[in-house]
Amino acid sequence: SLPKNATIIEVGPRDGLQNEGRIVTTDFKLQFIEGLQKSGIQEMELTSFVSPKWVPQMADAKDIMASAEKQGRQFVLAPNEKGIQAALESGARAIAVFVGVSNSFNKKNINKTTAESMKALEPLVAKLKEDGIFVRACISTAFYCPFEGAVDPEATLALCRQFVEWGVDELSVADTIGMAAPNESYALFKKITEAFPDTLITAHFHDTRKMALANIYAALHAGVTRFDSSAGGLGGCPFAPGATGNVATEDVVNMLHRMGIDTGIDLDQLCDAVQKIEHHISTPVQTGMYSLYKNR
Ligand code: HMG
Ligand code: MG
Repeated sequence: SLPKNATIIEVGPRDGLQNEGRIVTTDFKLQFIEGLQKSGIQEMELTSFVSPKWVPQMADAKDIMASAEKQGRQFVLAPNEKGIQAALESGARAIAVFVGVSNSFNKKNINKTTAESMKALEPLVAKLKEDGIFVRACISTAFYCPFEGAVDPEATLALCRQFVEWGVDELSVADTIGMAAPNESYALFKKITEAFPDTLITAHFHDTRKMALANIYAALHAGVTRFDSSAGGLGGCPFAPGATGNVATEDVVNMLHRMGIDTGIDLDQLCDAVQKIEHHISTPVQTGMYSLYKNR
């Protein structure tokens, strides 16, 4: 049976903007965050503490953290010790670490093999948990890799298991290049929700092949109630060729509400926030759908 409530984790200010070639001003990012918060979003990735040489758009992470209004759970991404240190100094209490199941992708994204990443992360995650920080583990290329093709679901499960053994609070399991089909979404998320009943399980879909909503529907049936999405469908990983935007938050919220699943988000106000981004990015908002939802 389907849940009565679901949680949206808004990733627009981070995943949405990290691939944007035109540098968005810190002021506008803060307005974007504020607009999203006004719509009722309670969990959000605000920014990432990564190398500005690798991802120039996120170079203002410290300023974002200093000025963003605090509402609900505010995540920042951090790939390594330096990023985690900076995140903690900025006041972050919820940190997302990230690693790819596939070595080739992880090399391109973090310049380490998956095993090297995990070795480096183990003591860092232990310390974060000791300090009472909420740890979210983002699992990239959980279904397909842009370089290696299909990923063995057992490899994804094994990586998830390692994080669960370290005591992370949440697994965000990602279809990085938007290639999974709904039957694959159902099968993997069924295994994950059954294997890790005490960990928050989140599904992170990119909409490259327009299957993200169908994948979310399938994941709901597998027991998932948390979904990453990006307002306006912005986004993509700069190190995953062909990756386009995340599933659009407004599309997910509309679908869930129509199905009688509450998110606590005001769709009208969410659409206002989306409308304002359009003027600040180089490509039109992917879905163009928000105008359909507004004032309806
Ligand atoms: P590296 O070049 O191997 O790192 O990059 P390094 O340790 O040799 O350092 C190189 C330089 O970067 C040094 O500066 C460091 O100080 C600096 P220099 O001495 O040359 O002036 N540096 C940093 N600066 C700021 N913050 C840091 C940091 N670390 C080192 N944290 C590194 C390794 C991990 C840094 C690099 O590969 C990197 O930043 N990668 C981030 C890639 C990224 O942000 N990808 C997108 C996010 S993941 C994603 O989108 C997927 C997800 O959405 C789920 C899905 O859809 O799959 C989550
Ligand atoms: Mg992503």
